[in-house]
Amino acid sequence: MQIQTLIFATNNIHKVKEIKSVVGDSINIISLAEAGIDIDIPEPHDTLIANASEKSSVIHQLTGQNCFSEDTGLEVAELNGEPGVKSARYAGDGRNFQDNIDLLLKNLSGKFNRSAQFRTVISLIWHQKEYFFEGICNGKITETQNGLEGFGYDPVFIPEGSTKTFAEMSMDEKNCFSHRKKAVAQLISFLKTIE
Ligand code: IMP
Repeated sequence: MQIQTLIFATNNIHKVKEIKSVVGDSINIISLAEAGIDIDIPEPHDTLIANASEKSSVIHQLTGQNCFSEDTGLEVAELNGEPGVKSARYAGDGRNFQDNIDLLLKNLSGKFNRSAQFRTVISLIWHQKEYFFEGICNGKITETQNGLEGFGYDPVFIPEGSTKTFAEMSMDEKNCFSHRKKAVAQLISFLKTIE
């Protein structure tokens, strides 16, 4: 497979690390910082797909280059799918990971059904055409937080098939289950098919 270069439209260094660890040398991923782009891309929509599309479109208009973005939400069954698309700002515009976890655990306090899923939607703009990929990881929300790795809601999410939270796993272990890994795997397969 010929090495493709893609700008990843995000300022989230955790996401950049995770995705680089998944693609290895198969794709040359350039973060916004590495591309010298300093922009806070808006996420104004009420679906993951629309926000992902917005982010890749903004960067494509700015650079004219092939690029992709992703939007991820934690969807909790007992909370009717919340925080979902509002995951980053669940507890307010400060986008504070700890505040978001605290609010989630408070809203689930005493609830028996702790089922949840992470869902990632990728928007790829490849030679002016847009393509979408999705990855889902099912699991459950813990009663208390555990682990120091990762980011966001990782300390309170246990994926199906494990007894550890994402925050108790190395990046390679998280990649065995991760929503983001599944979506990126589809992106890689797609790029192989159009080679
Ligand atoms: P966004 O895709 O940047 O809007 O991310 C939404 C929020 O979801 C982030 O701020 C994190 O709090 C959370 N999030 C996204 N991906 C993950 C993950 O892999 N683990 C834990 N939390 C995540």
